[in-house]
Amino acid sequence: MKEMPKNGFVFISGATGGIGRAFCFACAKDGDLFLTGRSEEKLSSLKEELEKAYPQRRVEYFAADLTSEKDRLAMFSYIEERGFTFFRLVNVAGADVQKAFEKYTQEKIVFQCRVNLEAALSLTHFVLSHREKQLEIVNISSISGVYPMPYFAIYSATKGALTSFSSSLRLEMKGKGVKVTAIEPGGVYTRPDIRKDIEGQGLWGKLSAKTPEYVAKKSLRAVAKNKRVCRPGFWNKFIAAVPKLLPLGVRMRFIARRWSKLEKDAF
Ligand SMILES: NC(=O)c1ccc[n+]([C@@H]2O[C@H](COP(=O)([O-])OP(=O)(O)OC[C@H]3O[C@@H](n4cnc5c(N)ncnc54)[C@H](OP(=O)(O)O)[C@@H]3O)[C@@H](O)[C@H]2O)c1
Repeated sequence: MKEMPKNGFVFISGATGGIGRAFCFACAKDGDLFLTGRSEEKLSSLKEELEKAYPQRRVEYFAADLTSEKDRLAMFSYIEERGFTFFRLVNVAGADVQKAFEKYTQEKIVFQCRVNLEAALSLTHFVLSHREKQLEIVNISSISGVYPMPYFAIYSATKGALTSFSSSLRLEMKGKGVKVTAIEPGGVYTRPDIRKDIEGQGLWGKLSAKTPEYVAKKSLRAVAKNKRVCRPGFWNKFIAAVPKLLPLGVRMRFIARRWSKLEKDAF
């Protein structure tokens, strides 16, 4: 049966990145888009591409640094002034700082927590009060949030918290027309440094990694089925479940050995 066109917009944060872009094209099939990212230039050219591919769609955007409360409030005012409402929110924006905790600066700690967690909570709260009758919330967490990850500790903690929040909210919103799904991808072929990391992980990386398009497709299917959590790909389901049979200390020592070899920053 052909689906009825939906009222309102799909709100996508992190729209200008690899996974965000895939969600933009996948969600344009369902309705109009409201995009955000930090770069006005990237957002404007993404809007052009999307409008070329989907001439029937309206694409709006607002450039904002989501770690800044001031930017977020400016974006919320912009939306309210125009009376936009939403039938889907995809919280994609995130960053992956990877190093020993002692090597962080105070500034980096705040940045990592804000972009991965605070931003998603804030957008979710705003969109809930500007929603259409039905709302789907898709939170892009990570398989890295399933276990504590030494040398990736803050990333792993923020993603674990995002999944936990999604599960709680899902229950709070039961019966209110709101579906909430957390997505826990393994490696996704996006930025060149991530592609290099995946290659560096050999067979493990290959088995885990998926394209952004695959992740977007599986995520939207999971939210349509009202799944609590979605781990795109068989290997990711396997590594999230089977090692639980081993003591946590053993798992963490294994993770520490692999992850202590890499170091990267993000802003
Ligand atoms: N790639 C993977 O292997 C993988 C695996 C599991 C989970 N994930 C998660 O998936 C999400 C997207 O990852 P990706 O690989 O697509 O990364 P990416 O290409 O680096 O994209 C990150 C997106 O987040 C936005 N962003 C970053 N900091 C921001 C800030 N302070 N304010 C507003 N927007 C900000 C970026 O916008 P700008 O254009 O402004 O930079 C960009 O649109 C992240 O949450 C990541 O943790 C990724």
